[in-house]
Amino acid sequence: MNFKLSLPTEIIFGEGTTNEVAKYTKKFSDNILLVIGKKSAKETGLFDKVTKLLNYENIKYEVLEGIKANPTVDLVRIGIEIIRQKNIDFILAVGGGSVIDTAKAIACGVFYEGDVWDFFVRKAVIKKALPIGVVLTLAAAGSEMNGNAVVSNTETKQKLAISSHLLYPKFSILDPINTLTVPLEHTLYGVVDILSHVFEQYFDKTPQEESILQDRFAESIIKTVIEIAPKLKDDLSNVSYRATIMWCSTMALNGIIGCGKIHDWSSHQIEHAISAVYDNISHGLGLAIVFPAWMRYVIDEIPYKFYNFAKNIWGIKKESIVETALEGIGFLEKFYKDLGIPTKLSEVGITHKDFDIIASKAVEFGAIGSVKKLNKEDVLKILTLCS
Ligand code: NZQ
Ligand code: ZN
Repeated sequence: MNFKLSLPTEIIFGEGTTNEVAKYTKKFSDNILLVIGKKSAKETGLFDKVTKLLNYENIKYEVLEGIKANPTVDLVRIGIEIIRQKNIDFILAVGGGSVIDTAKAIACGVFYEGDVWDFFVRKAVIKKALPIGVVLTLAAAGSEMNGNAVVSNTETKQKLAISSHLLYPKFSILDPINTLTVPLEHTLYGVVDILSHVFEQYFDKTPQEESILQDRFAESIIKTVIEIAPKLKDDLSNVSYRATIMWCSTMALNGIIGCGKIHDWSSHQIEHAISAVYDNISHGLGLAIVFPAWMRYVIDEIPYKFYNFAKNIWGIKKESIVETALEGIGFLEKFYKDLGIPTKLSEVGITHKDFDIIASKAVEFGAIGSVKKLNKEDVLKILTLCS
């Protein structure tokens, strides 16, 4: 087991920590771009609160607003222009994954002479980026403490990711109060995304004896989410539940549970292809549908990992390893259904006619995944399994 781990993001966690936003921002700049989503930051009063604090510290800000879920590259381009015109040198993202990812794409695009989309289609490599800070408003993507960004291009109907150590936020303010207003459906999609990030790292071909600690970390996140999510569903304004899920979100994708592991990430790539074609499908919703189907498709490759999942998470122990493993996947699907989350493509209006385009997009840069290398035929079979 060999790995390097560097986590350059300072986390400021807890109720009331939003009050520290200007103090942390001031460490980097007094001329910033403030990025927010479509409406929630203004409706909840968070935008007013943050801008008041910035004003108090004499920090100038330009606002880029209207970032939509499944964010698009056109607003990234606008953000780059604003920064260049106003000599801005810091970006503050106040929002969920879509807002943070937009900020990250702007941060690296500013220093690149060509079109920022080149980074996403692997025509250019990120060499430099502006620093960014985050006030997180939704627990899901984990973007608050990693170097990834996922952005869509509506012209080419692609949704692609970039990743660079340069894109880790300098600081992230994780104030659970800011998540109290997240509506039920996005709260639940966040829960699915968090679990899926753990699954992408837990269900892989790393020999078990090389990832004992990582897998126990992973299981503790899965168990925590499974315990708290139903309680949170019934009590959306419970700050302790919100805080727990928020910390799970960050811990699921900040690198710790994946240290030295092979990872898979093919379910994410299939989901990104789905939301590239259907941009009204939330990332977490797509994952709730795709992941159990992927699990069933690859179960024979790593039956003992699915067995561990069934036994250690759900307490199942049947006669055979495969029987136990399959029941564990069934339990996961039932967990999603009990929360009211769709688990079939047909439930969200996606039909066979789009399977070909989705599968082509998923494997656009070659076969995906590592548990089993998936080509277009495999992806089509997985889509059929969850149709
Ligand atoms: O735009 P507003 O009005 O703010 O509404 C948002 C949006 O409609 C709303 N919302 C956010 N905070 C709120 C709130 N509503 C009320 N109160 C609040 N406090 O929630 C909706 C969804 O927001 P979004 O940012 O899209 O959600 P999420 O955080 O799940 O991010 C999803 C995006 O992240 C990408 C996904 O592909 C997707 O594009 N991912 C990014 C990753 C990363 N950077 O590491 C990894 C993930 O696997 C994922 O792919
Ligand atoms: Zn995800």
